Amino acid sequence: MRGELSVNICNLEYTFRKTDTFHLQINDLDYSFNGVLGMYGLSGSGKTTFSKLLAGIIEPVSGSVSFFTNGHSAVPKIIYSPQFPERILLGIHIGDTVQQILSQNVNKIGVYDSICNHLQKFSLDFNNIRDKSGFELSGGELRRLAIALSLALSPELLILDEPTIGLGRRGKTQLYSILEEFRQQHHIMIVSHDFNLIRRICNHYWILDRGKLIFTGDLNALRRQQDIIEKVGINSLEHYLTATVKTEEMETL
Ligand SMILES: Nc1ncnc2c1ncn2[C@@H]1O[C@H](COP(=O)(O)OP(=O)(O)OP(=O)(O)O)[C@@H](O)[C@H]1O
Ligand SMILES: [Mg+2]
Repeated sequence: MRGELSVNICNLEYTFRKTDTFHLQINDLDYSFNGVLGMYGLSGSGKTTFSKLLAGIIEPVSGSVSFFTNGHSAVPKIIYSPQFPERILLGIHIGDTVQQILSQNVNKIGVYDSICNHLQKFSLDFNNIRDKSGFELSGGELRRLAIALSLALSPELLILDEPTIGLGRRGKTQLYSILEEFRQQHHIMIVSHDFNLIRRICNHYWILDRGKLIFTGDLNALRRQQDIIEKVGINSLEHYLTATVKTEEMETL
């Protein structure tokens, strides 16, 4: 079972440079992780920036992100699986990188088996890629490798940023079934500008608009917020906002 995990965000602010027009500002948010959380917003709304702040990869200009388990302050293991895995993986040797990951883990055999298993669920054989460099893999293979490595590290909170880019229909179906299993033991956050994906996997949504959090809630609450639906461009997806959407319909998207 997943452990209890909650987050408190207080007056969080981030800007890349003083002169930048983009300014992320999340005033106050308390959230208890339960199921799969989806962060949605139009391109450029600040999802990746906010995710990196949550994961502690970048530091806020001001404000704080604090995690709690069972009411006590905590430092959970959070893995952020990047939107652009190629920025990290292109120059690396895959076998050496896996060895490096294993050397940092006590449970080497468990992590190694988990990497191989998750790759296999994504139709990738570790033995076929271990002697390759990142640039010798396709975009979809890089994505699947990045996700498999993230899953194998067994984080308390896994943040997947735009996880379906480059996957294709078969890869998406494989990802859905992997996450269905993974969610039983771990907290997951999916970050995407694709509302169909968020709708397919997540039971609670955070919606960002120009650096501000304009909605938190479930599908029923979202259906009542027509102004938000229109603002973030999901009004044309009304059909998919119904609770009875069929799986086959989603698969064709
Ligand atoms: N390293 C950077 N330096 C300066 N500005 C940046 C940098 N990274 C992102 N930005 C800007 O910050 C804003 C938010 O970017 P971010 O990547 O967080 O958006 P996003 O919601 O993840 O977008 P997408 O859906 O396209 O991935 C954008 O206007 C972007 O141009
Ligand atoms: Mg992004």
